[in-house]
Amino acid sequence: MTSKPITGRDVRIALVGCGRISGNHFDAFRKIDGLQLVAVCDSVPERARAAAEANGVPSFTSFEEMLHGVACDAVAICTPSGLHPQLGIIAAKLGKHVITEKPMAISLAAADELVAACDAAGVNLFVVKQNRLNAPIQLLKRALDKGRFGRLYLANTTVRWTRPQEYYDQAPWRGTWEFDGGAFMNQASHYVDLIQWLVGPVESVMAKTATLARRIEAEDTGIAVLKFRNGALGTIEVTMLTYPKNLEGSITILGEKGSVKISGTAVNRVETWQFADYDDDDKLVEATATNPPNVYGFGHEAYYRNVLKVLRGEATPDTDGRAGRKSLELILGIYESAKTGRDVPLPLRVTL
Ligand SMILES: NC(=O)c1ccc[n+]([C@@H]2O[C@H](COP(=O)([O-])OP(=O)(O)OC[C@H]3O[C@@H](n4cnc5c(N)ncnc54)[C@H](O)[C@@H]3O)[C@@H](O)[C@H]2O)c1
Repeated sequence: MTSKPITGRDVRIALVGCGRISGNHFDAFRKIDGLQLVAVCDSVPERARAAAEANGVPSFTSFEEMLHGVACDAVAICTPSGLHPQLGIIAAKLGKHVITEKPMAISLAAADELVAACDAAGVNLFVVKQNRLNAPIQLLKRALDKGRFGRLYLANTTVRWTRPQEYYDQAPWRGTWEFDGGAFMNQASHYVDLIQWLVGPVESVMAKTATLARRIEAEDTGIAVLKFRNGALGTIEVTMLTYPKNLEGSITILGEKGSVKISGTAVNRVETWQFADYDDDDKLVEATATNPPNVYGFGHEAYYRNVLKVLRGEATPDTDGRAGRKSLELILGIYESAKTGRDVPLPLRVTL
């Protein structure tokens, strides 16, 4: 990264894609001194106008016109996932920092093009992975970094959520292979990210996926079995068909000297926290519980606080393009195994 820190004035952000998740971004901009939303863009004019009016900024229906029409330092990309790389590359070439919603891309080749474009332009690439910043997850990460578990044996992440057909029917991109992917790539992608970030690199994966009840191209349900490079085993269980409402978004890690399960519907509270040896962090467990209004949680604000610090030259990114690529690679490994019926070793070849 070579760009100069932005100091002495607000960091100006232009946002593209004024749909469901954009509200979390707008909230973060309102709450954080030093970040200023300067324009919004949506290809649906009414959506662009409504977001512009609510935020007191100009609206655009063309991303390129917005970038040429308004002075900004960074773009926030909240469009369908398959469009993230191409929009990010346009912005990077114009010297803008890129903040993209997850997943950063839905193919490794496109993810690599985005990383390369940001490197070549000397701009930062941020991939929003706000669940890493949930207080219980941060506490768990610290316990792992301190080696409190001893050897790691078994890890699991479970996403038992509900997404009715109407959710998929809201927009034509949902559940398609070209723009979205299924439960692993979209709804559970934070959980796939967490398990590999917390437990370590994955050596190989076997998976089964199914489209059991929703009229979509990709999967609504799936399971994956992981072998980590450190020897531990893991499982991922995902469904969007839980009756009648979201039941669980959890992660469990079992080691030689510790067992932790973080549960709730969105890894928002500690359910089990047991270690052989005492640590002062144990006193913080109760205080980490949160009750988010939805499964997106509160993390966008925390994520943007890091973005601001990075652009001020005071921190390194919580999740940059290379970090975002790792969980994408695991998801694509899961899809490859489900397709071929084979155990798929990682890293993958970049054609996927
Ligand atoms: N971090 C999270 O927890 C989280 C949660 C939900 C969604 N997401 C991600 O956010 C992205 C958007 O999801 P959503 O649920 O908000 O989708 P959405 O369909 O509600 O919103 C997407 C918006 O992008 C607009 N759009 C599409 N193509 C465009 C283009 N070329 N130029 C300008 N606007 C365009 C659409 O009109 C729509 O308003 C997805 O990548 C999704 O995976 C992340």
